[in-house]
Amino acid sequence: MAEVRYEAASRVYPGSPPVRAVDGLDLSIADGEFLVLVGPSGSGKSTALRMVAGLEDVDEGSIWIGDRDVTSVPPKGRDIAMVFQSYALYPHMTVAQNMGFALKLQGLSKQVIGEKVAEAAKLLDLEKYL
Ligand SMILES: Nc1ncnc2c1ncn2[C@@H]1O[C@H](COP(=O)(O)OP(=O)(O)OP(=O)(O)O)[C@@H](O)[C@H]1O
Ligand SMILES: [Mg+2]
Repeated sequence: MAEVRYEAASRVYPGSPPVRAVDGLDLSIADGEFLVLVGPSGSGKSTALRMVAGLEDVDEGSIWIGDRDVTSVPPKGRDIAMVFQSYALYPHMTVAQNMGFALKLQGLSKQVIGEKVAEAAKLLDLEKYL
């Protein structure tokens, strides 16, 4: 893993009027730290998460993963994973295939994918669903 850092990061949704959903967020999350964002509905939690994943533009400031400025890096170039509030699975694939899909896109061998999926399934107590 790596440190994740928001530096005065803002997201302003265009519109009339524009919505300043995240306003100059300064936040460092240490390597391995477990962080929970809590706040009222509409306070910008989801927007802040989407910004680090690259699913939302950063209109001001920057976002760093480790020593890399990812502010303008597309989602697929960030090497991070996200579990959505409403699940997003590929219904025609097995649980194991869903879990390993991103690794398949990265071009990893079947054997390595199998090992990593087994490791994650064990950690998450999902082995019986594979
Ligand atoms: N795509 C969008 N376009 C315009 N405004 C948006 C968009 N998405 C979110 N917003 C607005 O941005 C603000 C922050 O929304 P966000 O979804 O990040 O809040 P949240 O803290 O995740 O809320 P909840 O607890 O309800 O999930 C809200 O005012 C919301 O209406
Ligand atoms: Mg939300």
